[in-house]
Amino acid sequence: MPLVNPQPLTFPLSEAARHIQRSVMRDLIALGARPEVISFAGGLPAADCLPLDEIQTCLDAVLAAEGRRALQYGPPYPPLREWIAGYMRRRGVACAVENVFITNGAQQALEILGRLLLDPGEPAVVEALTFTGIGQVMHAHGARLRAAALDLETGVDPAGFERALLEDGRPARVAAVIPDFNNPTGASLTPAKRPALAAAAARAGVPLIEDDPYSLLRYAGETLPPIKAYDDAGLVLYIGSFSKVIAPALRLGWIVAPADLLPRLTVLRESLDLESSQLLQRVATEFAQRGFLESHVQTLNAANLARRDAMQAALSRELGATASWTVPDGGLFLWVTLPAHLDTAALFPAALENGVAYIPGVHFSADGRHANALRLNYSNNTPERIAEGIRRLASVIKERA
Ligand SMILES: Cc1ncc(COP(=O)(O)O)c(C=O)c1O
Repeated sequence: MPLVNPQPLTFPLSEAARHIQRSVMRDLIALGARPEVISFAGGLPAADCLPLDEIQTCLDAVLAAEGRRALQYGPPYPPLREWIAGYMRRRGVACAVENVFITNGAQQALEILGRLLLDPGEPAVVEALTFTGIGQVMHAHGARLRAAALDLETGVDPAGFERALLEDGRPARVAAVIPDFNNPTGASLTPAKRPALAAAAARAGVPLIEDDPYSLLRYAGETLPPIKAYDDAGLVLYIGSFSKVIAPALRLGWIVAPADLLPRLTVLRESLDLESSQLLQRVATEFAQRGFLESHVQTLNAANLARRDAMQAALSRELGATASWTVPDGGLFLWVTLPAHLDTAALFPAALENGVAYIPGVHFSADGRHANALRLNYSNNTPERIAEGIRRLASVIKERA
């Protein structure tokens, strides 16, 4: 598949649609899906760990107990909102059922918050390296991006973040930060940075989206409270997701927001898809209430740790003298930096030819830097395939280093 932008269309399109570029990320992931390629490109949870039997058990239980009610339209499922509120409280967040808004995944939550907060031409702050889905929402709403500097090991810098919020004396409309096991860097905010970011948002009066699909995936170090736990001003809008901790196919996530915003969120979301699946909300609730979530997360984290270790060992062996990389305490990714003269987007075709795929750093960059870096996913390959994939990647890099 060629990596090109779509042909210009003569069809009368909206301003936003006219500027859409082909999704290079999707292209790269599709290229990596060929069977002969070992792909470190997608953000996929371990396919061999997806909880098939537990989902079957929950589905059977839901259909037996609720029958056709589970197949109907309906309001957000109260027991799921209750479970989420309890989970957030256990994480140190003041959260009642009235604060929980169910979405179809974290990506939809981002889009709904974009609709709530953004206008064309208005500034928005993102981490200098950020998840592509955050960038897409910001661009779709015409935001002008400001990049907040970050440290590859400890995340965004609070002082730089606050400067970005207030640049040119014009407060940003919104900021977005990924607190744990950042996509793409794997970095987690230190304990001190979390209250500092909440305080910076409060001083500037700027809503802060905390996009947190990964924090349960911790296999090392101590669990930390989210930024939302320090949100005295009520400006942090927390996003959670079941995608990475149960299954992406549930398409279920949530927003924790001030209760008086929820009626607006409901209307802003209605034009997207009306509501989340009654069936899948019940399945997720059953999964959590039966205790499957804890045991499944343990299984995932054990697998992810072994895979991270396999990737670190292979990188040390193959590229120890050439590259540096982050050492995450959880999540799905690590971030590799190559010598400055190497361009990982330019290297990609050769890597693919050699049977390995990754995502070039430039696709996550809000400030055009990091062309010599790449993101590697370690969760969705066995340690043996990881060793072989890194060997293939290293041979391409070493030829040019
Ligand atoms: C940081 C971040 N936010 C949001 C998402 C979207 O997640 P979901 O599947 O819940 O829509 C992802 C998925 O990779 C992600 O990495």
